Amino acid sequence: MRHFLDLKDWSSDEIMDLLNRAVDLKQEHASGGNEPVLAGKTLGMIFQKPSLRTRVSFDVGMNQLGGYAVMISPNEIQLGTRESIPDVARVLSGYVDAIMARVFAHNHLRQLAQFASVPVVNGLSDASHPCQALADMLTIYEEFGEISGLRIAYVGDGNNVAASLMIAAAKLGASFAIATPAAYGLPSNVWENAVAESAGRPVNIKKYRTAAEAVQDAHVIYTDTWVSMGQEDQRDEKLEHFHDFQVNDELVSHARSDTIVMHCLPAHRGEEITDSVADSDQSAIFLQAHNRLHAQKALLVELMTQ
Ligand code: CP
Ligand code: NVA
Repeated sequence: MRHFLDLKDWSSDEIMDLLNRAVDLKQEHASGGNEPVLAGKTLGMIFQKPSLRTRVSFDVGMNQLGGYAVMISPNEIQLGTRESIPDVARVLSGYVDAIMARVFAHNHLRQLAQFASVPVVNGLSDASHPCQALADMLTIYEEFGEISGLRIAYVGDGNNVAASLMIAAAKLGASFAIATPAAYGLPSNVWENAVAESAGRPVNIKKYRTAAEAVQDAHVIYTDTWVSMGQEDQRDEKLEHFHDFQVNDELVSHARSDTIVMHCLPAHRGEEITDSVADSDQSAIFLQAHNRLHAQKALLVELMTQ
């Protein structure tokens, strides 16, 4: 039985297989609908934080594959407070065929996976967001016809989304350039994993001092909110450090002319990204959001039909 907690646990070939299956499922859906390969299967969805894309795309994805999703809100379950995480994992395993969880502490996902007898999927933790990276790579694959050999630039906060994007790039042979304020870089263990993964591949995983240097020659410019869920009390302090890391028209002019701009959403327009960029022809942000559906359907089929 496999879990999907972090992309580092999946091989490059396995990730490419998921992307190719996602392309097929997207096409199948557009030509009349998906086969009900998950008929009779149920996904349990635990949310400790708000969500639009993750909640709706998993729910609709299960429906399109003939299955069913059960939403469990933070108040109902009170993970680790009303009931211990091992007990939640054991109980849910008797009802559902897979668990998708959005949590604060990544360790809570590991505990769920340890005690569940069904696959556990990371729907975002403070450390990573692998479902997002899977959809992002699907979007890049569709836009450029390949991933290997491209250059992806991330500008902004060294957060969960950046961590998953960096390991995904390293695994799939794309160079990764990142510019963050000095105090808000990615943790050292994330760097070590990505650098180790890139060994033997002709890719460059590198940190830059300025956003303009990072986006030079980039095929993709990616950003995310400067204030992630759970960091609201640090908002004023963080915003002081980020003014030079906005994705705006001037920054985009430093990249390739065919560069695409990506954002996992929700966007804080006027902060990390301007309206002019988010709504430009180069923006892929809504394609990205829609691709969550197809990338995750590929993942659900892989995990739930083993
Ligand atoms: N990108 C993303 O995960 O969006 P939600 O927080 O709305 O699920
Ligand atoms: N980094 C953001 C991503 C939201 C999808 C957060 O964790 O809030």
